[in-house]
Amino acid sequence: MAAFQSFVVCFIVAFAVIVSPTCAALTRNFYDKVCPHALPTIKAVVKNAIIREPRIGASLLRLHFHDCFVNGCDGSVLLDDTANFTGEKTALPNLNSLRGFDVVDEIKTAVNKVCRRSVVSCADILAVAARDSVDILGGPSYRYKVLLGRRDARNASKNDANNDLPPPFLNLTQLLSNFQSHGLNLKDLVVLSGGHTIGLSRCIAFRARIYNDTNINPGFAASLKQECPLTGGDNNTQPLDATTTRFDTVYFKSLLKSKGLLHSDQQLFKGDGSTSDKLVRHYSNHYLDFAKDFGVSMIKMGNMKPLTGTRGEVRLNCRRIN
Ligand code: HEM
Ligand SMILES: *[C@@H]1O[C@H](CO)[C@@H](O)[C@H](O)[C@H]1NC(C)=O
Ligand SMILES: *[C@@H]1O[C@H](CO)[C@@H](O)[C@H](O)[C@H]1NC(C)=O
Ligand SMILES: *[C@@H]1O[C@H](CO)[C@@H](O)[C@H](O)[C@H]1NC(C)=O
Ligand SMILES: *[C@@H]1O[C@H](CO)[C@@H](O)[C@H](O)[C@H]1NC(C)=O
Ligand SMILES: *[C@@H]1O[C@H](CO)[C@@H](O)[C@H](O)[C@H]1NC(C)=O
Repeated sequence: MAAFQSFVVCFIVAFAVIVSPTCAALTRNFYDKVCPHALPTIKAVVKNAIIREPRIGASLLRLHFHDCFVNGCDGSVLLDDTANFTGEKTALPNLNSLRGFDVVDEIKTAVNKVCRRSVVSCADILAVAARDSVDILGGPSYRYKVLLGRRDARNASKNDANNDLPPPFLNLTQLLSNFQSHGLNLKDLVVLSGGHTIGLSRCIAFRARIYNDTNINPGFAASLKQECPLTGGDNNTQPLDATTTRFDTVYFKSLLKSKGLLHSDQQLFKGDGSTSDKLVRHYSNHYLDFAKDFGVSMIKMGNMKPLTGTRGEVRLNCRRIN
């Protein structure tokens, strides 16, 4: 659907201007000629960052998701506020929650240096860093080939971030309609939620679930209440699954046991035999299918409304427009 939309946009632009340089699809080999060391450099910085702090892989994966869901994968999430706009960083889903900005800066500095100029966009850095994180934390997984050639936005919107990112208290119907509004389907929703196989969540995001939900394992809820009291401790973190630095199927296995940490996680498996239930059950014991389908859906997500050709810019510094 997203690919279809960008195809339609491309087609209209190409028609109007006959041959338009603004219309270009993302490609696998975008940097092969212009900077052959770009991708290995990104991977090396990501690898070091994960060695320093294993959680950072999860944080980098989430940055790409939050970038793409708000006006497409255009690096807008990285922009600091300016006099002209209030950016996405202070929007509710992001404030005190998104992390990894310093690692993105480190990557950008490294690629600017190895390429001898600023040619790798911040939007592409997020896409590659997300893929590399999954690859590094995933062991013998299927390494999906990320598509490249995105350019960076010159604006950002706090409002759009508040409106377009799904909050964790949504039910399945609402989660699906949010994903559909981004050109993604139920399978994409389930498999991409598998991103929660790595990383942590703050208490404030799962408090309502552990105190009020009924489809939760009682022992699991009781132990979480120790770490996440009814009042206070909003910033206390807990693992999204039991193996937070392994990209594995434990997230889906936990849902089968009503041990999803977020309300939105457990919505994917309610034990009602729905299509969503079946997908969760399947991924819970088919790691290779999960890894492969995750790559397919990540590419689909990464194709959302990219700026290509001469639109936008390649930022020199990911935090501000040139
Ligand atoms: C389906 C809708 C989704 C909802 C409602 C949701 C919600 C959340 C919430 C509330 C957190 C914790 C934030 C905090 O502690 O402040 C979180 C963390 C995370 N999310 Fe999601 N998420 C969704 C989909 C995704 C997708 C599609 C991905 C990536 C493919 C993803 C990757 C992550 C990761 C890796 C973390 C942990 C980050 C870290 O430890 O720094 N999420 N998510
Ligand atoms: C705000 O926009 C104006 C007009 O486009 C531009 O001249 C100015 O440099 C911008 N300010 C910042 C802080 O980006
Ligand atoms: C949570 O952490 C942020 C900084 O990350 C801080 O500004 C905020 O006051 C903290 N909230 C609580 C309730 O401790
Ligand atoms: C940013 O500008 C582009 C055009 O330059 C526009 O299509 C887009 O909607 C704008 N985004 C925001 C968040 O204002
Ligand atoms: C999901 O939430 C919406 C909005 O609160 C509600 O109208 C709808 O009935 C809910 N759907 C289900 C299946 O619970
Ligand atoms: C549980 O639900 C009640 C009734 O909707 C609400 O007032 C309360 O704030 C909820 N508790 C939590 C921890 O979210």
